[in-house]
Amino acid sequence: MKKIAILTGGGDAPGLNAVIRAAVKTAIYEYGCEVIGVRNGYDGFIEEEGIVPLEIKDVRGILPRGGTILGTVNRGNPYARRIIRDGKEVTIDVSDEIIKGIERLKVDALLVLGGDGTLHIAHELSQKGAPVIGVPKTIDNDIGGTERTFGFDTAVNTATEAIDKLHTTAESHHRVMVLELMGRDAGFIALHAGIAGGSDVILIPEIPFKYATVLAKVSKRVERGYKFSILAVSEGAKSVDGEQVFSRSGDEIYTPRLGGIGQKVGEFIELNGFETRVTVLGHLQRGGIPTPYDRWLATRYGAAAVRLAATGKFDRMVALREAKVTDISLEEALAVPKRVNVNSDAVLTARNMGISFGDQ
Ligand code: F6P
Repeated sequence: MKKIAILTGGGDAPGLNAVIRAAVKTAIYEYGCEVIGVRNGYDGFIEEEGIVPLEIKDVRGILPRGGTILGTVNRGNPYARRIIRDGKEVTIDVSDEIIKGIERLKVDALLVLGGDGTLHIAHELSQKGAPVIGVPKTIDNDIGGTERTFGFDTAVNTATEAIDKLHTTAESHHRVMVLELMGRDAGFIALHAGIAGGSDVILIPEIPFKYATVLAKVSKRVERGYKFSILAVSEGAKSVDGEQVFSRSGDEIYTPRLGGIGQKVGEFIELNGFETRVTVLGHLQRGGIPTPYDRWLATRYGAAAVRLAATGKFDRMVALREAKVTDISLEEALAVPKRVNVNSDAVLTARNMGISFGDQ
């Protein structure tokens, strides 16, 4: 193995830099291998100054830094790239150009640090001959075949801190506080932070809720003398007879943007007589310093990805299984997105702690 490339694609997540650092150090120290960085996802292969060298000096001090030193885009799908041609906006497939870009660089492996979308593209590019290795990144923790994605722990930390802070002000003002959290179609962030922060209600996409049941929980707390309530609401949550709420519709480049369910739930509760405030935590969950757990996992993933590349096995992804870092095929990882198991001990325990999922 003489030369490898690294790219970061899709939404950023805390720990990306820790993966880059570990991969560069492993490649150089264990294999004497050259490393290059591809800037702004797959775009770097076809854009000017899209390729940068990555040496030890370039990764010094980045372990605790959020974001990605390589930059990223979440509209970087080479199979649907929007360009202006003859004064008109058109969408074209530039995947062959990306493949040529990879070939031109003569890399033995391309490490792709990405979530569902970026890894799907990696898998498709590998069908065209690209030697890809995936590293599962996303605060949503929704990639199949791995117990954890890096970034998730930091997001849960941020969300839990927000719940803790909302608790004190909710109690002072005798209010209902609704906190809308990220996660797309997976409720892991709301579930973990909701339990860790002692929420009274957790609404997740995997368990459709009834507005009346949520209201009953809030009312019952008031009857019992608890004049405040905390609701952790996944952005992808939906009522039994409703749809997910989007703040922007999607197109061939962008996926639809979830957002607004927290406001809807908050308005309903306030209309029924309980003073309510809504907070949308948003991109704070993606930013900032990765937790020690995320740095630890990201470092192990980065090193494992390089070692996997050295074996010459591609179209695979590093994964955490039974607390061990291993690897699985990208096909397996992408076959079924991971969702909260509604019969898991976590959900059962939350119910036994008195947390309502709004369903019963
Ligand atoms: O997938 C990560 C994530 O943060 C989701 O939780 C969220 O729905 C989405 O990305 C937001 O994306 P954007 O950065 O495009 O607003």
